[in-house]
Formats: sequence, C-alpha cells, structure tokens
Amino acid sequence: MDIKRIGIMTGGGDCPGLNPVIRAAVTTAIRVYGWEVLGIEDAFSGMIDLDYRSPHGNQWLTVDTVHDILDRGGTILGTSNKSDPFHYVVERDGEKVETDIFDQVLDNFRKVGLDALISIGGDGSMRIARQAMARGLTRIVGVPKTIDNDLGATDYTFGFDSAVQVATEAIDRLRDTAESHDRVILVEVMGRDAGWIALHAGIAGGAQAILIPEIPYRLAPIADHIRQRRLDGHPYSIVVVAEGAKPGGGEVSTLGPRELGAMRRLFGAAARVAEGLGNLIELDIRFTVLGHVQRGGSPSNFDRILGTRFGEEAVHLLARGDFGKMVALRGTKIVAVPLDEAASQQKLVDPGGQIVRAARSLGIVFGDE
Ligand code: F6P
Repeated sequence: MDIKRIGIMTGGGDCPGLNPVIRAAVTTAIRVYGWEVLGIEDAFSGMIDLDYRSPHGNQWLTVDTVHDILDRGGTILGTSNKSDPFHYVVERDGEKVETDIFDQVLDNFRKVGLDALISIGGDGSMRIARQAMARGLTRIVGVPKTIDNDLGATDYTFGFDSAVQVATEAIDRLRDTAESHDRVILVEVMGRDAGWIALHAGIAGGAQAILIPEIPYRLAPIADHIRQRRLDGHPYSIVVVAEGAKPGGGEVSTLGPRELGAMRRLFGAAARVAEGLGNLIELDIRFTVLGHVQRGGSPSNFDRILGTRFGEEAVHLLARGDFGKMVALRGTKIVAVPLDEAASQQKLVDPGGQIVRAARSLGIVFGDE
C-alpha cells in the first residue's frame, strides 16, 4: 500500500532541535513525495483521543506552517512523557492505575487514515515505537533526541550541543563571580544516567571538578583539590555536578516517591555536594541549578543541521519501506539502525575513555582520586 498520509509526533522531554526535524520531515514529505502530514499533539495524547485539545490539538501541517520554525526551541507539536499507551495512567475506583490502551491508538490511527508514523523521542519513545510495531502499527521510523546524549545507537542526539552551549555559558558567567568573591561555585546540570553534559560543559568551561553518574565521588579529593588551588593562588573553583551524580556507595538525590507513569525526579545533587564540602573547606560555597534552562532556547547550528538531516532521512526511510528503523549519526553519515538496537543500548561515559583522561590530564578531578 502506497503512503499518502503520515503522522509525526514528539515524545518525552523537549529539546532544541525538535522543530528543525519537524520542518525538514514535513517539507520533504510534502515537496518530494506529495504526502499529507498530521502533526500529532503531545506525543500519543493526540492519538489516544482525537479531540485532545481540539481545535488546538492535532493539525494538518503545511510547508507554510513549518517554514519559519528552524530557530525555535521546544516543539510546535507539544510533547509529553505521560502518554505511553502501553502504561497509560487512568483513574479507576478513585485510584490511579496503569493500563494498556494501545488498541484505541490503532483505531484512531486508522480513523484518520494514517499510513505511517515518524516518532521523535528518546529511549522511552523508541521502546514504545517498538512495542507499537509488535502490536500492528508496523510503519514507524524513529528519530532520536535528548539533551542527555545517552542513546547508544547514535553518536550524537540533537539537543545535546545546545544544552552544552547553555551550560558552558553559565559556567563562564559563574567563574567571573566565583573569582571575584573567592568562592567555590557548584553548577548542577542535567544528566540522569549519563554525564555527557557535565563532562563536555565542564571541559569547555574550564571547571576544576566534574561529578558524573558514571564515576561515584568522594568529597575528600575534591576538597583537597580546592584547598591546593587556594595555596597556589587561585582561591576560587567551579565544580560541575550532573543531576545524577552520586557518592560512592550512595544513591542519587531525588524528590519524593516516583509518580505512577513518570520517571523519578532527580533533585538536590549539587546542594548535597555543597553541604558536604562546606564541612571540609573554609571557602564560601554557592550552587546554581541550571535545570530546564538547558532544554529551552534556539537550537545551535549543529543541532539545526543534525535535526534537519534526521528529519529528511526519516521521510526517505518511510518512502523506501524501511520501517522499524531509527535514523542515527555514525561519524559524519546518517544511517538507519533497527529500533530494537536503538531502544536497548544506553551510551554512558566511559570512565577509562579518552575524554575523561583528557580532563584528568588537565587537572580536573572527578572525586574518585
Ligand atoms: O532526559 C532528559 C532530561 O532532561 C533529564 O536529563 C532530566 O532528568 C529529565 O529530562 C527531566 O525531565 P522533566 O522535564 O520531566 O523534569
């Protein structure tokens, strides 16, 4: 069956670069293949309920709708990390329970006459896409996004470069004030399981210590390093802390219990390090949590180009009937990898790898010294 109509959705946390993907995919689908493209609102929410947010929900997109979104952060389609149709949270007898409502999605997909779907998202969205294929929605391709850059099947996800840029700029600003006041300033960045943002921004921003989930830390070596810097005539330091950093033998810092259908919320990683360091060193300590600032704003040039290449290629995969794949960057080439592979491999920082070694060679400490 020929493709005439496709759906496109963004799932999980937003990130800079989603709009360039949407723009490229929609424009290619319409200009090159003459297809119609439905923008599905808030991930699967718009397919679970076709009237979701109507009349501002699902929209048929045109080249005109997307022509000027290249430099816009966020996603014009909206996104959600609470619309997994296989674990959808509903209220039953006054209690919240997870339920499988995927059949409803399939019905709605057919009702609208969609022939295929482009799902833009992180590892969670790729897992959902794989499950959807197994349940009959067979014509899917995935496009990987996340500021965390932790998807194993691609060298880079878009969003990461923009987030690193934001974090680096923040470090530069914080260094000015840390130096003026002879303070230790901790900068908490995102990075739930992977310390890529902390590592890259820490190196690019010239930080003195970087704490990442992959290298459990002790406070003593960090305090020693800060004290030594003071003796060497540098009475200020910048410590970058990934939100998922944890002390050796300890756990990540979280806020409250995990909500049904949601990820555990990480909270307080830098505050905990600040408190601990405060007991070990005399210097004034402050911390700044960058949080969702890293997820917003105009995408960097790199993310605009990567997003554009991903979006364009995703459409060609559908046209070729190469379903069940995710576009990925390998070296400088855009390739297609099976969704199975995409959903299962997480890419973490290798504590013995070259980039960590380079940081150590420059005198940056990780807290495991
Ligand atoms: O996965 C990307 C990410 O930015 C993580 O680094 C962070 O822990 C999470 O999303 C935050 O999600 P939310 O927007 O639900 O707070």
